[in-house]
Amino acid sequence: MSEVTRFVTEWGPRPRRVCYILALCLCIVLVGCSRIATPQGWSAGNVSGDNLFIGTMEGEILAVQKETGDLTWRRQLPTLEDSDRAVYGRPAVTDSTVFVGGYDGSLYAYDKNDGDLMWQEPLSGRIVGGPTVYGDHVLVGSGSVSSSDGSNGALYAIDMTTNDPDWTYQTDGPIWSSPTVHDGVVYVGSLDHNVYAVSLEDGAEMWRFTSGGAVGSGLAVAGGLVIFGGFDSTLYALNMKTGDLVWRFDGASGWYWAKPLVLDDVVYAPSLDGALYAIDATTGDLTWVFDTEGGQIVGSPVTINGMLAVPVADGGDSRIALLEPNGSFLAACRIGEDVRTSLEGDGDLIYFGATDSTIGALRIKGNGNPDEEWVFVTNADDPHPSGRPKKC
Ligand SMILES: *[C@@H]1O[C@H](CO)[C@@H](O)[C@H](O)[C@H]1NC(C)=O
Ligand SMILES: *[C@@H]1O[C@H](CO)[C@@H](O)[C@H](O)[C@H]1NC(C)=O
Repeated sequence: MSEVTRFVTEWGPRPRRVCYILALCLCIVLVGCSRIATPQGWSAGNVSGDNLFIGTMEGEILAVQKETGDLTWRRQLPTLEDSDRAVYGRPAVTDSTVFVGGYDGSLYAYDKNDGDLMWQEPLSGRIVGGPTVYGDHVLVGSGSVSSSDGSNGALYAIDMTTNDPDWTYQTDGPIWSSPTVHDGVVYVGSLDHNVYAVSLEDGAEMWRFTSGGAVGSGLAVAGGLVIFGGFDSTLYALNMKTGDLVWRFDGASGWYWAKPLVLDDVVYAPSLDGALYAIDATTGDLTWVFDTEGGQIVGSPVTINGMLAVPVADGGDSRIALLEPNGSFLAACRIGEDVRTSLEGDGDLIYFGATDSTIGALRIKGNGNPDEEWVFVTNADDPHPSGRPKKC
């Protein structure tokens, strides 16, 4: 580890928070206090055409103009109980349809242009990860979040036109992340500690790998490897054909929650311990670490104009940090409220939701300096209140 460079932001170190945000929010539900805990989802956005599609903390799906933040349409999920209405996963968007996984356990299909609800398919348990579209199928995982509901989970392949499941694959524990599809194989992790490879055609299991802890993160498939981190604070790389372990990285001290980003043979793995680890995808060796010193990285980073944009959740000091490809800190925009969503990038704009019920867009200049482009306040009568100071 001696040659590994450790980068930090220009904020001074602060004591690490003992509780992980997620452990807190989701475990409140797990210990059965769901009566008092209203779920407030955090969804990443998906840009398609001129619009950004994103779930709000109020349990809506929102379509806004990606350049201006002007409203195209918004729909509240038609969930019966307010306490079940939330969106955690990123919507999947095709040419005509927006697919949204509801925490109430239903998969929803909305008309992309006018927001009309086309169909709704109730599944078992709750949906925490977003749907994945492949060909004419929507792949989505579900499962219980409360021990009183049992501990099962399932992966569904839903036919887009009939909205019936073509097949269902049962797992031993809930699925909290989006499936990844590659070359006719669906890869998904479960809280039962397993990662599964399942045939897209008929849902037959091809292999499974048992890791040292629950797998809540999405799986990156690249260079013949399936790469993911678990709640055992270990990052794993498996042979995508056989499921055999190729390498593991044990250097983190916190859960991996977000899907790693893999680019040009480098794995960028964000951890709830507050660090972004850059790892050689071939060898599993650590190249550099970006340490937020007290924050947590809950969502996945994106690349933008050759730089990395990283969401840092750190209470009132939460920020979007911009890094050089070699990990050195360039600039940051202080958001002030926790950013738990994975980032979405398009051109030189990045999009995210924050826990103060805002959806934000930052324009990243060539030197890495971020500029707030627009903000949409999802719980206000006027989503664009005048006189709201810019964050950066
Ligand atoms: C947006 O949705 C499309 C369709 O499912 C998907 O291919 C794309 O990867 C999504 N975008 C992101 C950033 O996940
Ligand atoms: C990282 O890259 C930038 C731009 O190429 C360079 O200025 C900087 O010195 C590099 N930092 C390290 C520690 O290598």
